[in-house]
Amino acid sequence: MNIVIVSTPAHAERLAARIVADRVAKEPSLVLGCATGGTMEGVYDALVTMATAEAVDFSRVRTFNLDEYVGVATDDERSYYHYMNERFFSRVNLDPANCHVPDGSAPDPEAEAAAFEAKIAKAGGVGLQLLGIGNNGHIGFNEPLSSFASRTRVQPLAPRTREQNAPHFGGDPAAVPATALTMGVGTILESKEALLVATGAHKANILATTLEGPITGVVTATALHLHPDCTVIADEAAAAGLALTDFYRATAAAHPRLGRYEHLFD
Ligand code: PGA
Repeated sequence: MNIVIVSTPAHAERLAARIVADRVAKEPSLVLGCATGGTMEGVYDALVTMATAEAVDFSRVRTFNLDEYVGVATDDERSYYHYMNERFFSRVNLDPANCHVPDGSAPDPEAEAAAFEAKIAKAGGVGLQLLGIGNNGHIGFNEPLSSFASRTRVQPLAPRTREQNAPHFGGDPAAVPATALTMGVGTILESKEALLVATGAHKANILATTLEGPITGVVTATALHLHPDCTVIADEAAAAGLALTDFYRATAAAHPRLGRYEHLFD
């Protein structure tokens, strides 16, 4: 696990975007695992700005999103497909045929989950997986006690998640779908590289628990300690609960791949 502490959310967004853009330049047919949520909005904005300024070519990139609400159709503005299309897909030269988000309106959600997992496998697995982290430690919609071996499936949402996402459903947690399709923890762990972005003081507790606490099924994100190449980008506020910050700063600056981004840390 590599931990990079940067000064502000804007620094975190620019660094994440830089890492993605550089990977796409190096690997034009990259399989990019996409995340949604408030944190990622700024990451996509930074990535689109970079892609426009530098003519980053996404024409051969394949994308797979982490999750979608069951019962919410692609053209519903509350869907993650809509979020992705508005914030990223339509703003760069991605081929819509290469952009995959689980279909929340599929008549058989379990079959949709299995088909989505098969599509990821057919693409050769995810090369670079973007991740946010929920206040309860979920990655994707893998709520507490999701098996670390789980695959794409239907997952009931935790009450806390439905509260967190209620603003997108008129402010009423009961209006948030009770289940979602999510990539599994096992699927995420098989990505070649994972990049988790956490910003803001409200993420300080869960980040400290995840990074410096024990690996436990109760906090799904702790599974990332089992990932062979996971980087966490945290702004100062999200990193405020961490004990080993001097160590993280020293190792990030000296890291063979991340160290060259040191000018973007603050
Ligand atoms: P957030 O969501 O970026 O809106 O905090 C992250 C998540 O729940 O995965």
